[in-house]
Amino acid sequence: MSIIILGIESSCDDTSAAVIKDGFLLSNVVDGQAVHESYGGVVPELASRAHQQNIVPVVHEALKRAGISKDELSAVAFTRGPGLMGSLLVGVSFAKGFSRSLGIPMIDVNHLTGHVLAHFIKVENEENIQPDFPFLCLLVSGGNSQIILVRAYNDMEILGQTIDDAAGEAIDKCSKVMGLGYPGGPIIDKLARQGNPKAFCFSKPHIPGLDYSFSGLKTSFLYSLRDWIKEDPNFIEHHKTDLAASLEATIVDILMDKLRKAARQYNIKEVAVAGGVSANNGLRNAFREHAEKYGWKIFIPKFSYTTDNAAMIAITGYFKYQDKDFCPMEAPAYSRVTLK
Ligand code: KG4
Repeated sequence: MSIIILGIESSCDDTSAAVIKDGFLLSNVVDGQAVHESYGGVVPELASRAHQQNIVPVVHEALKRAGISKDELSAVAFTRGPGLMGSLLVGVSFAKGFSRSLGIPMIDVNHLTGHVLAHFIKVENEENIQPDFPFLCLLVSGGNSQIILVRAYNDMEILGQTIDDAAGEAIDKCSKVMGLGYPGGPIIDKLARQGNPKAFCFSKPHIPGLDYSFSGLKTSFLYSLRDWIKEDPNFIEHHKTDLAASLEATIVDILMDKLRKAARQYNIKEVAVAGGVSANNGLRNAFREHAEKYGWKIFIPKFSYTTDNAAMIAITGYFKYQDKDFCPMEAPAYSRVTLK
């Protein structure tokens, strides 16, 4: 009998629902929230209100596109955390009501696990190349920068992580300092393609082990700009592309240095990247260069699986369903949590 999972994701500012049947993606609907753009960041209160408006039509659309009726579903998988509490509560409450009314199990999914397992989503008539265990996954988003050792679907260990800001957060903050829009990541990425990555030098952290730090880079970027603007008030406008390219190159170098170290230390050559920042062209190119230079087998997600989406929640739910790893009705959402 087929396993059909409805996935629901509402941890931040994207309302998403997806349907996966026997590991194959049938639909993945994502409704973003433009309301935050004018604020230069996600406003939690507005995000939860928008989820309330979006969740029913998004789920309806995902089922419709999948050609699946509610009665065919095996389980409802939902993001339980980490994320914004008000946003999470919308998805969690919806999943509870939906599963109770249909009499099917509920599966709680850690958002970070979902990002990692996005590499196992299969699509009909596509090649579907997947990593073999064990592999390393660099998880880089607005809230996380982690190197994860993935031994199995349900066995992951964080080898290193940021001790302060996440890579995406640093990019977004530097972009804000430059007066660019929100989120800064895609804007910096676009500008960087036309700039010189060696034009400017920003400080890199010197911390032991496999942990990251990005707050020093942010300060270095801010102070350098302040000095340069004193000499040329239009400095940012005159050097926008070079600033973006140099910032991006510094962040990519920091990320890859530690990832290389982890790959050496654990003698692993299967290396994946996940999370919003994995959409970055500079980072994707660095992965390709490392594949060539160090013989890595690399796994770079489709753009649609880099940012928040319910397909990754549904695939994680699919694996947990097979383990009969269900969640009780009284399970609360959690805003902060690490990998299980
Ligand atoms: O995974 P994600 O969608 O949300 C969470 O943080 O969970 O990641 C969002 C982050 C933001 O910081 C955004 O600026 C960054 O991913 N991002 C990018 C790119 N696209 C999104 N950073 C660099 N280059 C991009 N193309």
